[in-house]
Amino acid sequence: MNLLTFRSEEDLNRAGAGLIASLLQSNPRSVLGLATGSTPIGIYAELVKLYESGSVSFAKARSYNLDEYVGLSGSHPASYRCFMNTHLFDRVDIDPANTHVPNGLAKDLEQECAYYDAMIEDDRIDLQLLGLGHNGHIGFNEPDDELIPGTHAATLQQQTREANARFFNSQDDVPKQAITMGVAGIMKAAQIMLVVRGAAKADIARQALTGPITTQCPASLLQLHPNLVVLMDEAAGAWAK
Ligand code: F6R
Repeated sequence: MNLLTFRSEEDLNRAGAGLIASLLQSNPRSVLGLATGSTPIGIYAELVKLYESGSVSFAKARSYNLDEYVGLSGSHPASYRCFMNTHLFDRVDIDPANTHVPNGLAKDLEQECAYYDAMIEDDRIDLQLLGLGHNGHIGFNEPDDELIPGTHAATLQQQTREANARFFNSQDDVPKQAITMGVAGIMKAAQIMLVVRGAAKADIARQALTGPITTQCPASLLQLHPNLVVLMDEAAGAWAK
């Protein structure tokens, strides 16, 4: 595990974007595993800058997002498809056909999950970007007695729905379910970049990265990954000094 803490958000964003950009520079056909939420926004903004300056191209890249809310269409402003289009896909030269986000409107959720898993199995993610939930979730794999390996429809915990209410008009509008890649799908990525920001996540980051490996803290499984890099700001990573 490579633990890096950064003095400024700018440095963290540059480092995160730099990792993704160097992957694309060495292999333009790289497969990126992407995340939404507040955490990666600055990294996507840096990637857009690198694209605009001609330093990186996404023309041959493919991407798979971790998750999508069940019941939201890709045009809903709080959907993860819309988030990705707004923050990255519409601002770089990636071919929209090569960007994949689970279909939250799929009639048959099981079939959609199996389809997503088959694509990930075939396409092999080179680098998976992850944020960390306040309860230790990754994707929408919530703490539980058991974790599900493959892509599945997950029921969101109340704490997660409250944390995500900021993207909706009201708490009640936050969907109760999301399609998420499972922990096995995440762990299959050749490299994982976990990004953690803010003092409120310092304790869960410490637990996840130095505590026992347990399904009650899904991010703790990342300790088992052979190529994990963690980028934290000083507030989140104060314990790591
Ligand atoms: C998002 C995702 C979630 C978030 C996590 C942290 O695609 O899978 O696991 O990474 O909830 O969210 P933020 O970054 O908003 O604190």
